[in-house]
Amino acid sequence: MAKHHVTTTINGDSVEFLCETGQTLLDVLRDELHLTGSKEGCASGDCGACSVMLDGRLVCACLVLGVEAADKSVETIEGMAKGDELHPLQRQFLEQAALQCGVCTPGFLVAAKALLERNPDPTETEVRYWLAGNLCRCTGYDKIVRAVLDTAAEIRGS
Ligand code: FES
Ligand code: FES
Repeated sequence: MAKHHVTTTINGDSVEFLCETGQTLLDVLRDELHLTGSKEGCASGDCGACSVMLDGRLVCACLVLGVEAADKSVETIEGMAKGDELHPLQRQFLEQAALQCGVCTPGFLVAAKALLERNPDPTETEVRYWLAGNLCRCTGYDKIVRAVLDTAAEIRGS
């Protein structure tokens, strides 16, 4: 079957790729574009490891088709740091050891960034609810939540 030719924007760059009709955005990112930061934990929308932004909406890339990215804007974990400068969330995750194996980490970071962009002063409960779709088998979540709250305070300058 002929592949689809898709033009999209990824992390601010215009990108073209070919994909099968049923190929997920996650598979396109990882297998065609070699952006392997987004992880596949479950491939069924349950773990959040594949979280990306699609036209400003937080989505599971394993539940989106590659063709659906046509003429849209995709933001992945690869676009989070600016050159050598980590995003404050990335730095706080490192400083607070809010990761162990790291499989869940890109998804948590993308989701947490989306939260802080719409709510710069979340409560702990709001952070936990927002991140409820992101599963972590290692950390017990407390360090992740603390890192997000401290990043929010850092960005607010308090
Ligand atoms: S890999 Fe997409 S939600 Fe788990
Ligand atoms: S750090 Fe291993 S799954 Fe979260």
